[in-house]
Amino acid sequence: MTEIKTYPPSADFVKNAHVDAAKYREMYDRSINDPEGFWTEEAKRLDWIKAPTKIKNVDFSYPDVSIKWFEDGELNVSVNCVDRHLATRGDQTAIIWESDDPEVDRHITYNEVSRQVNKMANVMKSLGIAKGDRVVLYMPMIPEAAYAMLACTRIGAIHSIVFAGFSPEALAARVSGSDAKLIVTADQAPRGGRNTPLKANVDKARAICGDVQALVVERTGEDVGMKEGLDHSFTALMAEAAEDCPPEPMNAEDPLFILYTSGSTGQPKGVLHTTGGYLLWAAMTHEIVFDYHDGDIFWCTADVGWVTGHSYIVYGPLANGATTLMFEGVPTYPDVGRFWAVCEKHKVNQFYTAPTAIRALMAHGTEPVNKHDLSSLKVLGTVGEPINPEAWNWYNETVGKGTRPIVDTWWQTETGGHILTPIPGAIPTKPGSATLPFYGIVPAILDPQTGAEITDTVAEGVLCLKDSWPGQMRTVYGDHERFVKTYFSDFKGYYFSGDGCRRDEDGYYWITGRVDDVINVSGHRMGTAEVESALVAHPAVSEAAVVGFPHDIKGQGIYCYVTLMDGEEYTDELKTELRNWVRKEIGPIASPDHIQWAPGLPKTRSGKIMRRILRKIAENDYGALGDTSTLADPSVVEDLIENRMNK
Ligand code: WTA
Repeated sequence: MTEIKTYPPSADFVKNAHVDAAKYREMYDRSINDPEGFWTEEAKRLDWIKAPTKIKNVDFSYPDVSIKWFEDGELNVSVNCVDRHLATRGDQTAIIWESDDPEVDRHITYNEVSRQVNKMANVMKSLGIAKGDRVVLYMPMIPEAAYAMLACTRIGAIHSIVFAGFSPEALAARVSGSDAKLIVTADQAPRGGRNTPLKANVDKARAICGDVQALVVERTGEDVGMKEGLDHSFTALMAEAAEDCPPEPMNAEDPLFILYTSGSTGQPKGVLHTTGGYLLWAAMTHEIVFDYHDGDIFWCTADVGWVTGHSYIVYGPLANGATTLMFEGVPTYPDVGRFWAVCEKHKVNQFYTAPTAIRALMAHGTEPVNKHDLSSLKVLGTVGEPINPEAWNWYNETVGKGTRPIVDTWWQTETGGHILTPIPGAIPTKPGSATLPFYGIVPAILDPQTGAEITDTVAEGVLCLKDSWPGQMRTVYGDHERFVKTYFSDFKGYYFSGDGCRRDEDGYYWITGRVDDVINVSGHRMGTAEVESALVAHPAVSEAAVVGFPHDIKGQGIYCYVTLMDGEEYTDELKTELRNWVRKEIGPIASPDHIQWAPGLPKTRSGKIMRRILRKIAENDYGALGDTSTLADPSVVEDLIENRMNK
């Protein structure tokens, strides 16, 4: 094995950091030994209408899982993200909006955010939205997306954001899944110089899920056919809306938002986060993990349609009174230097992106980076998938000039915020490792076969968490049984992450990727079951099996094995049609990289598809297929190897 280098933070960095090595140790130990005291203190980061006296009430035991934090506390999220900053920083920029067009940007102050959020909350009220109602957001990356989120929290409505890259079919499923009363959208979403027809997609979705009223933000001003009584113009309603909307007092355990995410089986599930614990976790990790200081410019390049955008574009930064940058475009438009141009233009201090973006930009060399002055950068972050050491080193040397700490943050939609992560002034990093647990986190590595916890320092197995933290999801919306089954039934008494993990001799954690049938394509999480069900919905397809395979830029690619109905012809035209079909059913992010015709799939005698074999063939590693003697018809494997696509 090549020797792994360790990168300690510089003395200069440590001097100004919120947390150094000693403080991390002290705080971490306290969070574990005295959680009540620790979290009573940390809860003071938020402004409470009624401060909590009951701190933690958690039961991880199967099947009675129940998770409550600060359960008698009362607060309002929009007050914490906006109102409480007005006296001290009303004129400070809250949001820097960088549009798709590099010539257009805006600085929006906390005062202005307050005005917009109050008005938009009143608009929602006028459309009949009240506490507890669900509102779907299907939005471009524009400030109105943040206003809509905060407007929901102001009146106690529960938002469910659907990534704007999802298809009308996927949108319809999420609208009916949460029984939404309103869709907030825009006429179009400009990205990379092209416009996605959001409103037209909403129309198509409503043809599937039934009529739900829409509030349409005029982003491009295109005529999108507003339907009387069903579609409402944002501009028109905002012009009439009153500027003051009193905040709804919410219990800490009232739902804040639903966010659909993929699992190993079935359709995506609605991850439910609640008000107090989530907000505290987002705010606290944002400050500590990025070493955010007052006045810094923070940029998370995610989309608000993913959890990273929820926690680190909107809730964490705004709860901390930060300046958060929101970028509408893509890293390669108008050219591959866009990220660095934006960092230079807005003097970004903390930059947070996904390994897939780093790998894609790395392919264009150092010149597009070196053209720009990146001296404002202080901390670099990554999230979403394991980062390979080559990409880490490039990020460190080319972007960070070898002097900025890199925080490789491991977490999930389910965890609300960072779980395993370096703290930049405290924890020396190693390329590819998410290093150590954040405060309050007790990781455990379990043997996947026996379910026993491996207590030796050096260990490899599946990653579980032994106790709750405030930002943990509370349930699957409308299906608590599914929540318990998904996360608490395989390894009783633990939260099971679905990830494989290794712990080294220094106690550092190295995520090895999903151990279930979830794949990670360009940092987008996807269930292979979803792609399979899209494929078999096509009339020509009789059976499909989908697996991930290693992909240089995307991390993982999508490899589909497809068996056709009797009498259908295996043609290249049909392959193209199926590829388009999946894009239409789910969205462009689910576009198959390879479709292999499979006259037969490897199955056990009881009919179970042996995915292990399909994965090996997709990885082009068919020499190591292991035992195939239990297959009903071993000859199908030879055919699949012979005709594999990834040679
Ligand atoms: C993967 C994104 C390695 C992991 C915040 C996890 C990572 C899934 C990392 C969650 C990381 C996320 N290193 N793998 N730093 N961060 N993952 O729900 O497999 O979209 O389970 O949340 O992404 O994806 P999700």
